[in-house]
Amino acid sequence: MKRGAALLPGLLCLLVLLVAVSARASPVETGVGLLQAKGCLSCHTLDGSASAGPTLNGVVEAKGAEYVRRAILVPNADIAEGYSAGMMPAVPVSEAELEALVLALAVPTSGAEPAEGGSILAVAVCGFLFVFLHLFLSSGWVRPRLVSALGETRFQWLYTTQAIVMLSLTWYAWDLAPFVELWRPAPWTRWVPNIGMPFVCILIWAGYTTESPTIAGKEEALSNERVATGVLRITRHPANMGFILWGLLHLFANGDLATVLLILSFVGLGVLGTWHIERRRLARHGNAWLAYAKETSVVPFAAILRGDQHLAVGEMGWKPIAGGLALWLVLLLTHHHEWFAGKSPMPFF
Ligand code: HEC
Repeated sequence: MKRGAALLPGLLCLLVLLVAVSARASPVETGVGLLQAKGCLSCHTLDGSASAGPTLNGVVEAKGAEYVRRAILVPNADIAEGYSAGMMPAVPVSEAELEALVLALAVPTSGAEPAEGGSILAVAVCGFLFVFLHLFLSSGWVRPRLVSALGETRFQWLYTTQAIVMLSLTWYAWDLAPFVELWRPAPWTRWVPNIGMPFVCILIWAGYTTESPTIAGKEEALSNERVATGVLRITRHPANMGFILWGLLHLFANGDLATVLLILSFVGLGVLGTWHIERRRLARHGNAWLAYAKETSVVPFAAILRGDQHLAVGEMGWKPIAGGLALWLVLLLTHHHEWFAGKSPMPFF
């Protein structure tokens, strides 16, 4: 029995030792980690596609280890074709780090072929259709006809499905699109979306879970005793404002054409969607809508600053806050696959 009891800590120690040994990074892994840590991947990719600098995929094989060492230590000694002197900063590296970097760059990376079949036009077309179908399907002419043909529930399914499909297609087109630089954002700009996104996610989550007369099919909320409650005190279009802010915050940290188009489709959806809902509610509900509009605002916090409304965070409850933060975490983690392509969303990597 005693011996059995001693076995357990022994086994645990062995396990910890095994994990420690296997977790010790190989030299190549150290090099890949350095590419990330030294900021090389904010200008270079490993997948063959061009970025602010030439791809480092296969660079050791193509140009030799000596060339690569010199390129890192004295960036202006040789200038890669199509680039000019002074574009690559001299990043301080120790002798051991330099060797690890060269080792990592000598290993062929997965996804070695540059992405093919992507185009800027595809992003523009998908982004446009994403916004257009949203507005078209919910327009005063199309929506009633489809609802009477399909029924409200099936219409909602159709609407949601097309939105998810169009968003996925736009995202996919963006992922494949070539890198076309419009401007180069400074590294600090990545703080902007990182700080703002938790708030954006709470707005969006609250927008879809609060009884609001701006949600399709929930217009009867206008006849409630108190309509403007919870997040609606901040803005009467929480989800749309969330999408607009999502886009604007990301515009700080991204300066390539495909990403700007993706951002424009988010902002476009938010702006046009808001305008569209405002018009339709006014036409249909007249004074009841005007009264609601007077005590709320489109721009977040405007009615509060105007003095027509007050903030009541307690009224929102913990659910939209927890849900929004969970959404934010998922979005942050799904960014993760891009860290390896040098598009880390974090400002401090
Ligand atoms: C601010 C952007 C930037 C950063 C950060 C940067 N580079 Fe560069 N790099 C460039 C540009 C632009 C070029 C092409 C101009 C040149 O050859 O000097 C280049 C060229 C190179 C080349 C030569 C490629 C070739 O095909 O000739 C190598 C190798 C290289 N960089 C490695 C690195 C490593 C390793 C790091 C990190 C320690 C790094 N770079 C960080 C922008 C950058």
